[in-house]
Order: sequence, then C-alpha cells, then structure tokens
Amino acid sequence: MPQAATRRLAADRAGIAEAGALLRAGKLVAIPTETVYGLGADAGNPAAVAGIYAAKERPRFNPLIAHLPDLAAAWREGQFGPDALKLAEAFWPGPLTLVVPAAEGGRVCDLARAGLPSVALRVPGSALARDILAAAGCPVAAPSANRSGRVSPTDADHVLGDLDGRISAILDGGPCPVGVESTIVACLDGRPVLLRPGGVSREAIQAVLGRPLAARGPAGAAPVSPGLLASHYAPRAAVRLDAVRIRPGEAALLFGPVPPEGIDEASAALNLSPGGDLAEAACHLFASLRRLDASGAATIAVAPIPGDGLGEAIRDRLVRAAAPR
Ligand code: TXA
Ligand code: MG
Repeated sequence: MPQAATRRLAADRAGIAEAGALLRAGKLVAIPTETVYGLGADAGNPAAVAGIYAAKERPRFNPLIAHLPDLAAAWREGQFGPDALKLAEAFWPGPLTLVVPAAEGGRVCDLARAGLPSVALRVPGSALARDILAAAGCPVAAPSANRSGRVSPTDADHVLGDLDGRISAILDGGPCPVGVESTIVACLDGRPVLLRPGGVSREAIQAVLGRPLAARGPAGAAPVSPGLLASHYAPRAAVRLDAVRIRPGEAALLFGPVPPEGIDEASAALNLSPGGDLAEAACHLFASLRRLDASGAATIAVAPIPGDGLGEAIRDRLVRAAAPR
C-alpha cells in the first residue's frame, strides 16, 4: 500500500484550495480540526471512503463522522429533531458530533455509515477546517488520522508518523487546541444518549437540553457506537491509572501542582497542567502519551485526574489506553 510520499500543504489560500481539489478528486487528505487531525475523504465517494479504512487498517463495521462547513450543509445529510437542532445551534461550530437519522437523498455513502440508518455529523470549530470543507464542496468523512488503535494525532508530525506514504497530502494547521475528540451524542428516538465524552462537557450539553443525557449501555434501545472498543488509544507502554505513588523506572503523567510520592525515581515525567486546568490537560494529553511512550518506559503511571467537565473525556481516553489488549 505505501505510495508516493505525502505532500505537506500550508495553511494558506493555495493550500486550502489544493486540499479541497484533492478531496473532490477522491484522494485522502489529513486535515486539522480543533480536536485532533482527521483523515479526510469525500464521504459520498465509496472508493475514497474505502481508502480511509485501508490506510488506517480500520474495521469496516466502524462508521465515520461526516464533516460539514455549516448547519445548512449538515441539514441536507441528517434529520434533526428538536433536541438535535438545539444542540447544533448551541455548539456548532465546535467539538460536538450528532448522530441522527440519515436524510433521504443525503450524500454520505453506505460505507461511511457502515450500513447504519443513522449518520454522524459534525461542523468543526476550526475555521481552517471549515474553509477546507467549503473548498471541497462535499461532506468529508474523517476519522482521527492515526492507524487504528493508536493514539490520536494532535499535530502534523504525529499524522505523518502513522500515515506517511499512505495518504496524498496533509494540511499542516499546527497543533490542535482542544486535543481530545468531539463529544458524540445520538439523537435518534427518546432521550439523547452520550456515546463518547469529548471536547464539549456533559454538563454543558445537559444545561442546553434541560435534562440529563441517557447513558450508553446494553439496556434497551440505547444505540452503541461500534467504534468504542475497550482497548483503543493504546501506547506501547502499559498504563497504570490513579497512581498516587510512582514506582522506580516508571514514566509519570502528572496533573496539578502536587507531585506524587516517588516522583524523583520516575524515568521521565510530564505534567498535563501544573495549574490543574482540565482544558489545558486535554490539549496536552495525546502528545504527552506519545512522548512518554517514546521514552521507552515499560509503564506510564498516571496521577489522579478529576472526572468532571473535560476530565470525563480525559479519563475515558486513559481508561481505554489502560485496557487489556
Ligand atoms: O473530533 C473528532 O470527532 C475527530 C475529528 C477528526 O473530527 N474524529 C473522530 O472520528 O474522532 P473517529 O472515527 O475516530 O470516531 C468516530 C466515532 C466512532 O466511535 C464511530 O463508531 C462513531 O463515531 N460513529 C460514527 N457514526 C456513527 C453512527 N451512525 N452511530 C453511532 N456511532 C457512530
Ligand atoms: Mg479515532
């Protein structure tokens, strides 16, 4: 599958126009968003979408998010009930993905939806991303631009480390400011369901809805997100959560001002946010995991991180990173 080297496009008018033209021509282009880099292809072109699954080595039962430049474009792809519309108006553009029934005559192909009657839609908060989507002029399917099962990429070098030679181009928009993927909420029938915590907190969504989100789970009608396999976002090292004491030789991922016991014997240490700010911690999460992994330590010990606000998404990703493989 390795082909010609991947081109690096600049975040200027020429780069945006070129990325749009390549996407329209059915090529694979990595694009920056406010959450993580996405591996984009025309969501209406099954051959291009098949290329995403191949480049990522992603199982085909795992559907993709279609990215659009605005609500008007999303409206053509999905059926928005009152809850979905409220959430779109409150949080788009931004790090929220809505799973809604696919619209009749929508362009997102069956393969991108993995054959489901629903479709995942997102209008990214990054203006650069929206400019690329407008230049492409089609819904753009984009999973995170990493090989399946690896840590999501938050800068262009992470993407090229996983996918160089497998994709036509990457538009380099610098580091991603949010750093964890979008929150996914399904608005199908009944109460909206939180499928994946992410860049918009549960609290903020519930405040807009005026009622609690339903939990995803085996009970009854709640849909599951096929991509939410237990082991995901996996570094090579083992991950040990809620470590209050660092063991000799472990790499340490810290949070907040108080160093844990044993920190002097850590082989490497990074602090996600010395001031204890969860948004800053989310922004640094994936790059820090990659760096500690590259240090060669057998185990990354992670200090306790609160589970409110963006902490829910951070903890979700860390639990997956720690899951047995
Ligand atoms: O922030 C993000 O969401 C990033 C950037 C690139 O936009 N994208 C991203 O995509 O995280 P991905 O493919 O890594 O995660 C998409 C998730 C998967 O867990 C998939 O199963 C779920 O969305 N999904 C997609 N369509 C769905 C559907 N119709 N029903 C339920 N889950 C769906
Ligand atoms: Mg992913």
